Amino acid sequence: MNIVLGITGGIAAYKAPDIVRRLRERGAEVQIVMTASAEEFVTGTALQAVSGKPIRSNLWDKEAEAAMSHIELARWADVVLIAPATAEVMARIVSGGAPDLLTTICLATEAPIALAPAMNHVMWNNPATQANREVLEERGIHIIGPGIGSQACGEEGAGRMLEPDLIAITVFNLTGGKGEGLLEGRKVVVTAGPTREAIDPVRYITNRSSGKMGYAVATAAAAQGADVVLISGPVSLAEPPGLEVIKVESAMDMHAATHEAIDAAHIFIAAAAVADYRPVAIVEQKIKKKSESMSLELTRCPDILASVADLDAAPFTVGFAAETENLIKHARGKLEKKKLDMIVANRVGRDCGFDRDDNAVTVLWSDGEKSFPTSSKVELAHDVIELVAEHFFAKRGSETQSRLTVISNND
Ligand code: CTP
Repeated sequence: MNIVLGITGGIAAYKAPDIVRRLRERGAEVQIVMTASAEEFVTGTALQAVSGKPIRSNLWDKEAEAAMSHIELARWADVVLIAPATAEVMARIVSGGAPDLLTTICLATEAPIALAPAMNHVMWNNPATQANREVLEERGIHIIGPGIGSQACGEEGAGRMLEPDLIAITVFNLTGGKGEGLLEGRKVVVTAGPTREAIDPVRYITNRSSGKMGYAVATAAAAQGADVVLISGPVSLAEPPGLEVIKVESAMDMHAATHEAIDAAHIFIAAAAVADYRPVAIVEQKIKKKSESMSLELTRCPDILASVADLDAAPFTVGFAAETENLIKHARGKLEKKKLDMIVANRVGRDCGFDRDDNAVTVLWSDGEKSFPTSSKVELAHDVIELVAEHFFAKRGSETQSRLTVISNND
């Protein structure tokens, strides 16, 4: 796949070499086109080294134009990705202006265009930027992200550029270049994020799950060609493009949505941190403080994972085990008790697991296990999906084999 990677002038440009690396790892040829302001944040030398091609930045560079004109470059691209994309470049593309090489290529290309916005949250939420986003989306331009969280300026909000690996995967998804296609034609249902159990109209019980691991797993499955349904509790993550996202709040909602989606699913992955208990009743009006103490009566929520594993035509079922101690022992216990095919065990605590971008996991199955050291959740998700696919096919192979044996015995 030929990718023109446009880099514009935002602080997230320092992550551009990593994007190049991730795209090239997947076999893409990457031609970088920088704007003048991008050069304030990242050097052409570094980018040339990682991309293996001279950087293009100047529309009026006679030598470069003679080798491949901007029109040829626009035709060469199978996809034009701009990461980071500033508010300025979004506005420029909306207006159809072409004052530099990158915007000229955007006008001249027939390839899909994807933008990974990165800017201060106030700039992102500005009505002008939001109006531009809408116009771009209406025109079929893919907006990847942005993510939500702490920003380079020290503030919090929506506007962070998504992780390079997630950008790379999404670009491959958008353009039909789907990883190794391990799960082509398979339906995968994933639950992610926390659930919210209402106490009264303004209060609820929840947990610290960010949904990052479940979203990464769903995206990794889609990157392997699967048709993915992502059932998500309340999270502040952008919806990954190219898969069906169903938003839910409570454990009961998630249970219902899962059983609605599970029909014909080949694989079910329960990455959600579902509440184990919910208030017996939701109080209709806001509870007023009266006595010095109060107690809340809770009742068990249905175990979504166990209920899927228990179905007559259960899909290949994968659970997650979040533990603070005796990780492997507890995870193996859950694998057996819930009759799962696999379980992904991870440690949770003050400085690991929830609400972080990295993690370390051990995947267990009936007669084996494999550990993956600390790495980004996006990378881990890919490793986990590859392992799940391998075991899914191994199980189907042995099922087919035993069916054939039954048929031949009946003969
Ligand atoms: N899970 C679920 N529905 C629930 C509770 C958990 O589907 N009501 C799933 C989670 O998505 C995860 C797995 O079960 O894949 C393990 O969840 P965890 O909370 O770690 O274990 P529990 O079985 O709830 O046991 P405990 O809380 O006692 O550790």
